Amino acid sequence: MSPVEGSTDTAQAASPTLADEVGAQLRDQPRRLPAHALYDPLGSALFDAICHLPWYPITRAETALLSAHRGAILESAGRQTRVCELGPGNGEKLAILLQDPLPQGTHDVHLIDVSSTALEIATARLERLPQVSVTTHVARYQDGLRSLDATRVGDEPLLVCLLGSNIGNFDPDDARALLGEIRQTLRTGDTLLIGADLVKPAATLHAAYDDPLGVTAAFNRNVLVRLNRDLGADFDVDGFTHDARWNPRARRMEMHLVSRRPQRVRVPAADLVIDLQASESIWTESSYKYDAPGVDAMLQQVGFVPAVQWHDADAGFLLTLAAAR
Ligand code: AVJ
Repeated sequence: MSPVEGSTDTAQAASPTLADEVGAQLRDQPRRLPAHALYDPLGSALFDAICHLPWYPITRAETALLSAHRGAILESAGRQTRVCELGPGNGEKLAILLQDPLPQGTHDVHLIDVSSTALEIATARLERLPQVSVTTHVARYQDGLRSLDATRVGDEPLLVCLLGSNIGNFDPDDARALLGEIRQTLRTGDTLLIGADLVKPAATLHAAYDDPLGVTAAFNRNVLVRLNRDLGADFDVDGFTHDARWNPRARRMEMHLVSRRPQRVRVPAADLVIDLQASESIWTESSYKYDAPGVDAMLQQVGFVPAVQWHDADAGFLLTLAAAR
């Protein structure tokens, strides 16, 4: 199936446009940008490069856990044929999970992402597997889940995957709300597989989010390139520095773009003119870090049964499998 045939664009109906969101968040104090805006085609490619960096442990740790426990995951998930991944990246993680041919039938795979580029790359990779048929949803997670729910017929069990610490981008209340929405999409006995990065020493986190090669800095600053192109903004990309901050109370890494000097920025598509002071920051992303009991408690709060959890040898990353109760 080509990405186009399998694609449904559920983003426009209910969701605000990029211009609306950027307008509202840049007017806000502290100034912010929506994290999903980082993932234009170049941003997605830079994120892919980040996953290869020796300082960014998430992808390697999770890939190893998926390889080691894929039998157990598919077994307790009830040999489901319907699988949905929220934010599949390049498709590698799901490809590890689904690499063994099913005894019979086909995996009906649904991929949900705001980036159509990411979806095309993931689809190409997953369709190389013999018994996989892919449907893509260019949408925010919540909107994609609704359109997935609308296509659900019959009683084949469903496995929803939220991997790569994608949950970490959501503030705690929003994370719980998202998991609650996932739970609403599931029926009793369906399963959720979630990957969460664990709290670790501040120095390790700093290296992961401000790497010596400057790839993460480029990933962060690229959002300005994107807004200049897509919203007609006039950000001086060189006028901002990448800053990665560990907030121990909130247990999150924050990425900021810090203005080097006083400057005025226009974003015509958002009908916006702002004056930034020297050192004023635009907060572009949060990456919350978890611990195992915290993930389990959050899942139980929204209607999952106590979960099976696996972590890697240095307890840097946690995979959790939970069933809808
Ligand atoms: C894809 C959102 C999980 O938060 O670690 C990587 C994105 N940001 N380096 C993360 C990211 C900076 C990543 N997530």
